[in-house]
Amino acid sequence: MAPIILSIMTATTNSIETLRKEALETLEQTGEAGLDQWRAEWLGRQDGRVTLLLRSVRDQPPDERAAFGAAANALKNDLEDALNQRREALKKKQLETLATSGAIDVTLPGRPQPVGRFHPVTQTLRDIVAVFGEMGFRVAEGPEVEWAKYNFDGVRIPEDHPARDMWDTIWVDKEIGGRRDMLLRTHTSPNQVRVMERQQPPIRVVVPGKCYRQEATDATHEWMLTQVEGLAVDEGIRMSDLKGVLYEFARRMFGQDRHITFHHSYFPFVEPGVEMAVDWPTADGGTRWVEILGAGMVHPEVIENAGFDSSRYTGFAFGIGVERVAMLRWGIDDIRHFYQNNLRFLRQF
Ligand code: PHE
Repeated sequence: MAPIILSIMTATTNSIETLRKEALETLEQTGEAGLDQWRAEWLGRQDGRVTLLLRSVRDQPPDERAAFGAAANALKNDLEDALNQRREALKKKQLETLATSGAIDVTLPGRPQPVGRFHPVTQTLRDIVAVFGEMGFRVAEGPEVEWAKYNFDGVRIPEDHPARDMWDTIWVDKEIGGRRDMLLRTHTSPNQVRVMERQQPPIRVVVPGKCYRQEATDATHEWMLTQVEGLAVDEGIRMSDLKGVLYEFARRMFGQDRHITFHHSYFPFVEPGVEMAVDWPTADGGTRWVEILGAGMVHPEVIENAGFDSSRYTGFAFGIGVERVAMLRWGIDDIRHFYQNNLRFLRQF
């Protein structure tokens, strides 16, 4: 209390100190459950004892009013502080008893929070796209529900062409705008056409995405698969560019001393067409070739269909089987593991 107040302390201010003593003593004996009642008795807005005291300031003799008022206010503030401290102290004590009484075993290790991660196919897809990104390929996307015009006709697979058998198709059984030729894309190659429709050479894109085929599943075939389509179109692109890019891809993806091999294959939208295989160690210490993609020089007709002069522009395209790459990478023997949602399998990656 300030000295000036002490000097004019009277019988009434003395009684304030008596009140303070009483209030603090009862607070000390009040448990958690009684705190609200204590507050009502001393600080209640209507008829708390300190509230009444404050209200009586105007009844004091004029020369004592200031000192009385100051002392009463100080009491009010002190009691509020004391109440808060008491609350805190009681809470702390409660936690301490909980901890020591054995209700909470503070020595137990915390519950681990499961950490999510990307599906192995997603991880592989991202890595593939990143490698081509480093080589200057931009990412494009196309629809999974596709017109036959893009999925087949635009890439030289006309109706009744036997090559349509290579992609046993899941058709959308619905007439849309008078047409009945919508399907779940069987490969990402329709995006060769879609990209060339909206972009001028030089073109360098990769198009990742899911594809669907109506086929019996086995260890290496699923009815849904993931591909990364690649397309480069410009003046003067040659087969050696295709081989160089895919060789570099294999080295960046699988390691510097990877060997690759190309052999001839047929896809209607490329000429010549190839399949690329990567050498992979076998259990008996040897290596074997594992095919991971189809590729080739974009057929001049596909270039012409897109509205470009095929005597000026050439290009290459490839389609990578992402599940195949993931299988190779981690030695997974059955493609069906990927989509069975077995966490014991998925948590390994
Ligand atoms: N689209 C082909 C497939 O699904 C792969 C491919 C893409 C082949 C591009 C050549 C060029 O098997």
